[in-house]
Amino acid sequence: MKILVINGPNLNLLGRREPGIYGGTTLEGIEKELALLAQGLQVSLSFFQSNHEGEILDRIHAAAADGTAGIIINPGAFTHTSIALRDAVTGVAIPTAEVHLSNIHARESFRAHSYLAPVAVGQVCGFGPQSYLMALSGLVALLKKGTMTS
Ligand code: DQA
Repeated sequence: MKILVINGPNLNLLGRREPGIYGGTTLEGIEKELALLAQGLQVSLSFFQSNHEGEILDRIHAAAADGTAGIIINPGAFTHTSIALRDAVTGVAIPTAEVHLSNIHARESFRAHSYLAPVAVGQVCGFGPQSYLMALSGLVALLKKGTMTS
């Protein structure tokens, strides 16, 4: 089973970006933890990070052709702005879990709205790097059972 992990804008800066909010773990560190968990779950992961909305859309479109069974995405600020991202996810119809390090509901009001959440399988936020691990185990469990709630 192939799972694609996408990180959006500014997440390449993790580790030195606003550590009081996002913690000290780098994106590479998060990807290493995910890779370990994926081994245990016996799924294969690929990783993609971009600061460019169109590149993220192109990668989601490519996932429809490369056998990707599920997507985990932290869209960064595109969460709150991008109808195009939501349309890409519905367009490829690949079950997608939304992830955030911070609790977007407990911050500025503009972060509480996600264009993606209504079309995502679920949203995990507020647990730091652990949010990604929870999303991976939850998404894989649902895919293995073959029952998606959306
Ligand atoms: C974020 C939350 C977003 O509001 C913000 O723009 C980010 C990171 C998070 O992981 O907590 O870039 O997605």
